[in-house]
Amino acid sequence: MAKKITISLRKGGSGKTTTAVNLATALHLKGKRTLLVDLDPQSHSTLSVGVDPLSREININTLLVDAEIKPEEAIVKTSFGLSLLPAHPDLAETEAGMKASQVGILRELLRPLDESFEFLVMDTPPAESFLTVGALAAADEVIIPLQTHYLAMRGLQDALVEIAQVKKGLNPSLKIGGILPVMVNNRTNIAKTVLEAVKKSYGDLLYPIQVDFSIRHAEASLAGEPIVIYSPRHQGSLAYKKLADLVIKKG
Ligand SMILES: Nc1ncnc2c1ncn2[C@@H]1O[C@H](COP(=O)(O)OP(=O)(O)O)[C@@H](O)[C@H]1O
Ligand SMILES: [Mg+2]
Repeated sequence: MAKKITISLRKGGSGKTTTAVNLATALHLKGKRTLLVDLDPQSHSTLSVGVDPLSREININTLLVDAEIKPEEAIVKTSFGLSLLPAHPDLAETEAGMKASQVGILRELLRPLDESFEFLVMDTPPAESFLTVGALAAADEVIIPLQTHYLAMRGLQDALVEIAQVKKGLNPSLKIGGILPVMVNNRTNIAKTVLEAVKKSYGDLLYPIQVDFSIRHAEASLAGEPIVIYSPRHQGSLAYKKLADLVIKKG
């Protein structure tokens, strides 16, 4: 049965897409049957693995609006062999029109893929919606990328409250995989101060890995490649591969 991992934090620009794309690709490179699921209408994950969202007639949006279409039909292989369930800009309208009663739709939709994949990695949009909550309801585990700046603790607390709420009602078996420090700037004391505060409050949740700030991440996404493919020996690549190792070890 596929292990479903949601990358979540409501704030935009916090490294969700970069984490989703590179974790999924690293798992794939390690021989695990992995599916990257792009749930963001902005389709950044889709673009970051070199797929044009407008080129895919069947995508996550068509699956949500037409229950007759099988999820397998939407899956596309990237140039480096990773399986992707692509997003589409129309997803924005679908998401806005979703009702509370549909919050479990994603879990049902993904169920037929359980036997075909070992890992599903879901990238989520920045705003709160039934889709982002649905992604938590569908997940076994959530990974929280944490930008190490002064306001990070606020965003982290909000994320943990949301996860606790989902655990209480929709998905009691949801686990926190961990908090991953990303975009860490080692040249100032801010990152160090934030990491110390996180360690103090949530030490057991903090991964023993960090992704340093580097312009190469933006370069890689412009090139339509995850950094683990674009620049395999880069610090960020090694960090994301280590994250994949920890995810695999946990099983
Ligand atoms: N470790 C990093 N160092 C520098 N820039 C990064 C890093 N990780 C991501 N970025 C860049 O930051 C921006 C936001 O990251 P992204 O993963 O798209 O966040 P989100 O999906 O949460 O909006 C992107 O331009 C991305 O290339
Ligand atoms: Mg994103």
